[in-house]
Parts: sequence; structure tokens; C-alpha cells
Amino acid sequence: MTALSTFPPACLAPAASETIARDVRLGEMVFNSPALLGRQAEKMGLSCGSCHRNGRGNRDFQFEAISGAPGTADVTSGLFSADRADNQFNPVPIPDLATKDGRDQVDRTDRAALAVFVRGLIEQEFSGAPPPDEVFEPLLTYLQHIDGRAEGCFSAEPVKVGWRRDWAEAQFAGRQIGMAGSENAAAFYRRTARLALGRIYARYNGVGQDDIRAGLIDLSRAIEAGAVWPDKTASLEAGMAAAESVSLYNPDTLGAALDLAAREK
Ligand code: HEC
Repeated sequence: MTALSTFPPACLAPAASETIARDVRLGEMVFNSPALLGRQAEKMGLSCGSCHRNGRGNRDFQFEAISGAPGTADVTSGLFSADRADNQFNPVPIPDLATKDGRDQVDRTDRAALAVFVRGLIEQEFSGAPPPDEVFEPLLTYLQHIDGRAEGCFSAEPVKVGWRRDWAEAQFAGRQIGMAGSENAAAFYRRTARLALGRIYARYNGVGQDDIRAGLIDLSRAIEAGAVWPDKTASLEAGMAAAESVSLYNPDTLGAALDLAAREK
């Protein structure tokens, strides 16, 4: 339940310039986008950030066919890719990338080594397409800034999951569309924006939330049809804010819905 309603606080080292800060933010979006990891992951809504939540770990991670004990994952399962499949079920704990244990396998200060490691993950582990440079490079920059020495990060409160986080993700990706340097990159931002809108849609599934769902669908279709993020979203935002407490973003509502689903099984 905690994993569905909170995120561990992000641990990010300060960026040395505004350009770098922008890349860290863009890389964070890429890290949290299921569009990076291929069709199978996209269908399941799985991103790097599903396992490494906010760049950290995920003690509650549980996914049929990939997890053993909660918080573990088998990243060579063959579910996502035939390339690295070892036909053995060998889940290991998901490392918190901000801790020392999360620096065992690859030296993230070595950007070239990190690039090889991350390309391997995306293309072999998950059968994602090679990402365009303008998407891939910021991802590396973000990974290089995840740092447990960032002030107070281990003692900070968990961050609540809310519509605003998914909305900010959709909006940020939507605005990138117009600035994309290639059609490939534009397509990546479009998918990222639409997947984030889809996450919001899934959480507003209650009575009286039809207008919100219709608004999200209109927006998603407009983006698919080539629009960049529109300016007039104030009434949709007001609707989501007003209904958040009765949506599945509210842990109590979500808990009740999950209980009901379990009982109906
Ligand atoms: C299904 C869960 C899952 C997903 C999705 C995932 N990882 Fe991981 N990640 C793991 C696990 C488990 C390990 C540890 C693997 C091991 O020990 O063999 C790991 C290891 C790593 C490491 C090495 C940490 C170290 O000790 O040096 C990095 C960096 C990393 N992942 C980044 C990413 C990035 C970037 C993505 C997206 C492209 C991603 N991960 C997607 C579960 C996941």
C-alpha cells in the first residue's frame, strides 16, 4: 500500500548550472517514462522509476513473474526480452541508487561506462528501442546526480503520490514536443505525456468523474494528433483537485477498492 501512495524522497546533488539542472529534470522524466523500455513494459506501465522509485529503491515491489520476496526483481527473466533471459528465476533486491549499495555494479562517475550499462538495460534487458540522444543523455545526467549525500535526503518525509505529480509529468513531456530536435524524440515525448495522462485516468474511475475522464481523453487525443500541450487546462485541473480525495489517489479510497477487488476474486 505504501508503494502505491508514497514515494521515497529524491536524493539529488545540486546541479552546477541551469542547463544541467534542466537536463536533470528532463532525465528524471525519461527515467519515469514507461515509453523507454519497450512495448511489454509500456503495457504494464513499468519504468525505471517503478523499481527505483524517485531514483531510490522499492521495498514493496511485487510483480508476478518478476519478483520473489517483496522488493526484489529478476531483471533477467525473459519476460521483457529474449536477449538476456537465463531461464532461471533469480530475483535480487532492487538497489537504492542513492546508497553505497546502489553503486556496486557500475561507476556512475564514469559516463561512458554508465552509458554502456544503461543502453544494455534498455535494449537487451527490456527490448526497448535505442533512445534518441536528446532523451538518453539527460537520463545519464540524472543518474549521475542521484546522490545520498544530498542534504537531509535520508531523513526527509516520503512524498505523497497525487494527481499533481502525474500531471506535472504529462505537462512537462507535452511541452517538450514542440522543442524536440527529431521526430523520434517528439514521438517519445508524445507517448510519455499520454502514458502519464493514462495513469491519471486510471485513478479517476469513480462516480461523478466522467468529465475528468473525458477531458483527459480529449487531451490525449489532441497530443496524439500532433498538438503540443494546450494552455487551457484550468477547468480540468480544478476538477481533478476537487475530486482527488474521492479518487484512487487517496490511499483510503484505493485501499477500499483493492479490498473489494480481492473479495470479488
Ligand atoms: C523490474 C525492476 C527494475 C527496473 C524496471 C529497472 N531496474 Fe535497475 N536494477 C534492478 C535490480 C534488481 C538491480 C540489481 C541487479 C543485480 O544486482 O544483478 C538493478 C540495478 C541497477 C543499477 C546498478 C546499481 C549499482 O549497484 O551500481 C542501476 C544504475 C540501475 N539499475 C538503473 C536502472 C535504470 C536506468 C533503469 C531503466 C532503464 C532500471 N534500472 C530499471 C531493478 C530494476
